[in-house]
Amino acid sequence: MNKETGSREQGIGPEPRTPNPQSPIPGPAPVIQAQGVWRVFKTGAERLEVLKGVDLSVDRGEFLSITGHSGTGKSTLLHILGGLDRPTQGKVFLDSLDIFSYSSTGLPELRNQKVGFVFQFHHLLAEFTVLENVALPLLIAGRSESEAFSRARHVLEEVDFTNRLNHRPAQLSGGEKSKAAVARALVNEPAVILADEPTGNLDVASSNALMNLLVSLNRNRSMTMVVVTHNQTVAARAGRVLKLSDGKLDNEKV
Ligand SMILES: Nc1ncnc2c1ncn2[C@@H]1O[C@H](COP(=O)(O)OP(=O)(O)OP(=O)(O)O)[C@@H](O)[C@H]1O
Ligand SMILES: [Mg+2]
Repeated sequence: MNKETGSREQGIGPEPRTPNPQSPIPGPAPVIQAQGVWRVFKTGAERLEVLKGVDLSVDRGEFLSITGHSGTGKSTLLHILGGLDRPTQGKVFLDSLDIFSYSSTGLPELRNQKVGFVFQFHHLLAEFTVLENVALPLLIAGRSESEAFSRARHVLEEVDFTNRLNHRPAQLSGGEKSKAAVARALVNEPAVILADEPTGNLDVASSNALMNLLVSLNRNRSMTMVVVTHNQTVAARAGRVLKLSDGKLDNEKV
């Protein structure tokens, strides 16, 4: 069966009630499962082993933090978990789907439906308003403008950010940009939100407000969260904390 057609037939939005019969993972599947993930960067003659066989399982509704020193590979791992980068070796399953078996056109489509990313520098598009930025993933997914903008408004209400809809990113504070980025990550009802140092640029008050928002989305909507941070206060808000060191995840509580 064609994988891309297969993914559409399974209905990527709502959660399948039964495990995917093609899935190698029996029973109720975790949202994310990474198996033996290696990432080796080659620059000239230099070979840098950043991830050395990472195994990870994230359950539905979990709030996981990944910590570790700068340069240990946290962003590299998060990008691989969300299909933004390919592992040198190993597999990642999102909702039981083997994401790196998808084609170069199928993978971005799957990513758009399954993953909401929140980055430290937000990556909001400068020429678009808040409302347009939040609607964009839906427009890319082929939804009508009226549906995309109505859903974008709804999500912005949910994150309590309706008073700057027509502002462009340069006209927002750091905390406001974060809220817009979280709304954009939520708009497609993803299976998981992957956040890379989401509070990295914020003052303490805005950082607390953003973490309160992520925790409430996790508690009230059972939104699965994976937050990468080197800030221990931020990490402590998660239900589980893992530390990345020497290319592997340490399963001990930090
Ligand atoms: N495309 C690349 N090519 C070569 N080396 C890379 C590439 N991307 C990352 N690296 C290296 O891999 C290592 C891990 O980088 P990564 O960005 O994942 O670290 P990090 O844990 O997120 O750090 P920070 O906390 O500073 O954000 C770094 O030493 C970096 O220089
Ligand atoms: Mg990083």
